[in-house]
Amino acid sequence: DASDIEKGTYPHFMLKEIDEQPFVIRNIIQKYQNEDGTVHLDDDIRSAMKSSDRIYVIAAGTSYHAGLVGKQLIEKIAQRPVEVHIASEFLYNMPLLSENPLFIFISQSGETADLRGVLVDVKKKGYRALTITNVPGSTLSREADFTLHTYGGPEIAVASTKAYTAQMAVFTLLAVDTAKASGIELDFDPIKELGIVANAMEILCDQKDRFEQIARDYLSVTRNCFFIGRAADYFVCLEGALKLKEISYIQAEGFAGGELKHGTIALIEDGTPVIAIATQEHVNLSIRGNVKEVAARGANPCIISMEGLESEGDAFVLPKVHELLTSLVTVIPLQLISYYAALHRGCDVDKPRNLAKSVTVE
Ligand code: G6P
Repeated sequence: DASDIEKGTYPHFMLKEIDEQPFVIRNIIQKYQNEDGTVHLDDDIRSAMKSSDRIYVIAAGTSYHAGLVGKQLIEKIAQRPVEVHIASEFLYNMPLLSENPLFIFISQSGETADLRGVLVDVKKKGYRALTITNVPGSTLSREADFTLHTYGGPEIAVASTKAYTAQMAVFTLLAVDTAKASGIELDFDPIKELGIVANAMEILCDQKDRFEQIARDYLSVTRNCFFIGRAADYFVCLEGALKLKEISYIQAEGFAGGELKHGTIALIEDGTPVIAIATQEHVNLSIRGNVKEVAARGANPCIISMEGLESEGDAFVLPKVHELLTSLVTVIPLQLISYYAALHRGCDVDKPRNLAKSVTVE
């Protein structure tokens, strides 16, 4: 049938979509690049970003996790305050808004009902909205004032992969464009840095056997798994845990490294897998301290670090990328480990139980 043709030689859409990520990133660079090699987004989006005093990012699921990284990018590159909210919560518990807010809706499908509820509400209040989506003709795109396309191509697997990295790449360009519009001097070339990210993704996608082995070693029999990281690594831990839960049904949680001791460490038993991410220089020592804490209580730690920060015994060392963009690269092993864990457990990778690709009911 048609879906078999689209899958090509891949056994699952998820694996195909993981592999497409370097191409998606290069495609985004190409679509948003000017002839002179600089980035320039739409003038209206530029002025909306520039004139707002606070940005409210609204999303659900994996897109919410991309939003957490997006906040860092906009705050660190464009120096504008950002809040990130779960759509279904925002609707019923709206925070105090700033005087001149701009809303950013992030949605792969552009159809998520929880987001639409917020969009209708804020439009009624007269606020402006930008939708970042993979489907430009979608409801959220049509009803917002502006749209940025993530150019990911159709994502079929229920577990989102390439949409997440595409959203973060577009956030990078949005942050840089806003910085430029605000006269901020940057020592960060997004085209170059995203190019390095795409190359790193390709290197990782060529080493699937390594991640299959990690899945075998750590996840074949376990009933749970923890992901720990600090700073940017914490956000990608949330996404890694969601991926693993969604498709392998292993109970998984992502935690901020320093927060574990305030309760969750009680769950660590002999052999509990703890996947620790260490790609941020300023927290490298402290996350490794957290790994020692769980190891002392019997955990089976699996450290994924980055070139320049590696230590003996790390399970995998990622190729080096700019410290603001590590999440785009770190997530690839986490996606692949989840994929193989689900595969080894005989789960339906592309169509996990109880989940839908796009949730159009509240
Ligand atoms: C569903 C999907 C998730 C997705 C979420 C948000 O729950 O199963 O994978 O992250 O919706 O979807 P969106 O299309 O708005 O990004």
